[in-house]
Amino acid sequence: MGLKIPLSIVGCGPGAREFLTREAERVVSEAEFLAGPERLIRLFADSSARKLPWSGKTDDLIKALCAPMGQGVRVVALVSGDVGAFSLASRLVEAFGKENCRLHPGISSFQLAFARLCVPWENARLVHAHGGDPGVDPAGLSRERQVAVALDAGKGWDWFLRAAPELMNTHDLHLCADLSLEDETVVAVASAADLAAMPPPRLAVAVFLRRGRLPKNRPPPFA
Ligand SMILES: C[S@@+](CC[C@H](N)C(=O)[O-])C[C@H]1O[C@@H](n2cnc3c(N)ncnc32)[C@H](O)[C@@H]1O
Repeated sequence: MGLKIPLSIVGCGPGAREFLTREAERVVSEAEFLAGPERLIRLFADSSARKLPWSGKTDDLIKALCAPMGQGVRVVALVSGDVGAFSLASRLVEAFGKENCRLHPGISSFQLAFARLCVPWENARLVHAHGGDPGVDPAGLSRERQVAVALDAGKGWDWFLRAAPELMNTHDLHLCADLSLEDETVVAVASAADLAAMPPPRLAVAVFLRRGRLPKNRPPPFA
């Protein structure tokens, strides 16, 4: 598929407008057709592009993009966080080919979670439990210094409640929910019983730090 105008895939960061890059704003301002999750489309209420809020199957989104892309319309697909971390961007690149896509990075929710904790993340093992069981062995994860798990309120949370107690024997757990949004919460979870009593978060990154990485009784870094 050789297209005159490539598909732009824009990482929109964790959700607040202030975390958008200037490049993301520019690319979206030039869009004629904007597709993505409703919460990200809402960030661009002032855009005059035709909007396609999307929450269903990726295959349906790919089909819906084919027609405008074939007509030479400037199409922009919005994805959450960064394009390179467990992102729909990879499915889109696979479907349309690298030569037909331009990727625009955003601030990842993983990045922001570690920033909130004032901890570097170059050693983090990233796990994607958004939507379900990621198929990783919790015993293997306990050998890592840092583990960050992308979660939502669905089946991923059920898996997390089963997997987390083992990791909590060796690691401190911080649950970073709704980052950058009005209801942002960053909490240290003291025990598996406390975790089981928590309501499932809508959007969250759970960060496990092998004990000793964060000083005890430290005040929240950005309070
Ligand atoms: C499909 S993954 C996409 C990850 C994204 N590419 C990134 O770099 O952040 C979706 C997951 O990202 C995480 N996420 C996205 N926005 C978030 C936010 N504002 N606060 C906490 N976690 C968020 C949640 O774990 C959510 O289930």
